[in-house]
Amino acid sequence: MSTTSEYVLGQSERAARRLALQDLHFAAPSEALLDALALRPADRVVELGCGPGAFTRRILNRLGAGGAVVGVDSSSGLLEQAKASLAQLGGSRFQPTLADVAKPGPWIDGADVVIGRAVLHHVPMAEFLLGRLRARLRPGTRVGFLEPDFRSLLARIAHLEATSRPELAPLLVWAKSINDLYSAWRISPCVGATLAQTLEIAEYSNVRHAWHEFPSDATVIENIQMIYDEVRDTYVSLGILSAGEIDEQQRLLRALPDDVLPAVWGLHQVSAVV
Ligand SMILES: C[S@@+](CC[C@H](N)C(=O)[O-])C[C@H]1O[C@@H](n2cnc3c(N)ncnc32)[C@H](O)[C@@H]1O
Repeated sequence: MSTTSEYVLGQSERAARRLALQDLHFAAPSEALLDALALRPADRVVELGCGPGAFTRRILNRLGAGGAVVGVDSSSGLLEQAKASLAQLGGSRFQPTLADVAKPGPWIDGADVVIGRAVLHHVPMAEFLLGRLRARLRPGTRVGFLEPDFRSLLARIAHLEATSRPELAPLLVWAKSINDLYSAWRISPCVGATLAQTLEIAEYSNVRHAWHEFPSDATVIENIQMIYDEVRDTYVSLGILSAGEIDEQQRLLRALPDDVLPAVWGLHQVSAVV
């Protein structure tokens, strides 16, 4: 069973390197979310699930000397890496905080902005958190999230695979496996697609949504390979894929043509005001 202190995709330095690679895929959507939130130099930003701090770096770059980022994460290993990598840029402006974001504590009080990238889908029943945040945050607090979507794009890929591109099958297998993993851990893999509606129903105001997809270039495929490496034992123990099936999928991924492949996952960017 998942406990909220475990990050299901690993907490090692290798996991941190994978998240740094992912930061490159997420560069344009990340900057777009920060634009939408119109960060001010003295803002107190609470970042949910900051991990090793790649998005935190982008936030800190937008703040002045009087601003601060409270980086909240349940993984002490990833927080340590964030502390080390942001020491120079952040100084006392980066405040690492070990906590479960599903249970907002005093660390959230006084936030001007609450932000999270690729974290809500790791929270069981993320909608509870979104409702409780609106109850706890001051009116006028800006909130913004980037959440992955591992489902919508599969219809396009399945159509291509069925009509002209059978070699795309390993993209479907990978996407199914990650959905199966998140379902087994009882977290919220589909929260991104319904996030804007969820915030509207919870009566946040000024809800805005944008959709970003990025083609499956070599770095996306490398990221997928690294995810297989990180979760290999978990997949086997949960019966999602056997070790032999993972080896075969990794071989098929390596054999994919070098040209640009269709996107296999994308990001929902959602911002709103309490
Ligand atoms: C996919 S990573 C994203 C990290 C970072 N936001 C980024 O975009 O690079 C998800 C992060 O959320 C953290 N996390 C997952 N569930 C959490 C929870 N319930 N409370 C606090 N942190 C959590 C994990 O430890 C991990 O650092």
